[in-house]
Amino acid sequence: MRILFLCLGNICRSPTAEAVTRQLAAQAGLRLEIDSAGTGGWHRGEAPCAGMQNAAARRGYDLSPLRARQIDRADFDRFDLILAMDRQNLRAAQALRPDAARARLEMFLQTETGTDEVPDPWFSQDFETCLSIIEDGAKALLARLQLVQ
Ligand code: 4NP
Repeated sequence: MRILFLCLGNICRSPTAEAVTRQLAAQAGLRLEIDSAGTGGWHRGEAPCAGMQNAAARRGYDLSPLRARQIDRADFDRFDLILAMDRQNLRAAQALRPDAARARLEMFLQTETGTDEVPDPWFSQDFETCLSIIEDGAKALLARLQLVQ
């Protein structure tokens, strides 16, 4: 299964979701192909932002090898599942999605109650809360996909 995480800049939320899910999948012995992208291209080629890298490193995730890229229409055939971090990114991806695309496009967080958006830490600088939401969301995702108990 191939999963693409999607946010705005691809330097905070989606690379974190990529690294966290990759680690969970490895721990569970799952073979998942995981990547991330942004709907915007301003940070193309950049590593994840320093605050996010530092918060992630303190919890054992290495974001340093990741580089930002912008989603393109071919991603909708490369991936089985594209998961948006907020509704703005979901809408941007819906607008880009080719009619016959194979990828399912959904929100990353799918809770019965509460928010289904991962708050953007770029302006708030609250990387710890963002990371905690993503850790919980990644566990819930693997359970939702029935890949783990
Ligand atoms: P991300 O955060 O979408 O989680 O990577 C952002 C990064 C950069 C900007 C916005 C959000 N920006 O406006 O440059």
